[in-house]
Amino acid sequence: MPSSLQELIQKLHEIFKEDRVNVEEVKELMESYRSNPQDWKQFAIFDAHRYTRNLVDEGNGKFNLIILCWGEGHGSSIHDHSDSHCFMKMLQGELKETLFDWPKGEDSQMKERSHSNLKENSVAYINDSIGLHRVENASHTEGSISLHLYSPPFQTCQVFDQRTSHKSVAQMTFWSKYGERTPLTTASKENN
Ligand code: SIN
Repeated sequence: MPSSLQELIQKLHEIFKEDRVNVEEVKELMESYRSNPQDWKQFAIFDAHRYTRNLVDEGNGKFNLIILCWGEGHGSSIHDHSDSHCFMKMLQGELKETLFDWPKGEDSQMKERSHSNLKENSVAYINDSIGLHRVENASHTEGSISLHLYSPPFQTCQVFDQRTSHKSVAQMTFWSKYGERTPLTTASKENN
């Protein structure tokens, strides 16, 4: 069992040397790390307005490991994962994950398939064959922090309007990299 985030990252590097991803193995490894704020607080940079994406490790090009900081009421759009694996481990607080089917018709409302509340240290997994999801911090009083592994890494994803199913492409950006705030560009649009 990894005794620190650093050790977890080392073990992830070993696992991802293989070409094939064993989803259960990655999930179990991420679950076995007990979240310790001392390990990750340098990466946990919040913003008052939107959830932030903070790059922790680039996994030798095989994966991106990102810490997401969700202020009270912050949430993502409904989105896909660009044919990648998405593992999401709770480091602090709780998040609500709502699953959606891929839209079938045009101009139709997207229906929720199910939802779950993710608790500290648990790990959720999704890919495009499972469906789409929205992630949100439903708390009005506490921030939430999650650790996401995407493999292979991706730079854009599709986002969906729940009322109409209309989709558009969103750029995945980083609020910080390795604990340093990413320089702002005027054109940058943070998150999806
Ligand atoms: C997710 O895909 O689970 C969260 C959204 C993001 O990475 O910005």
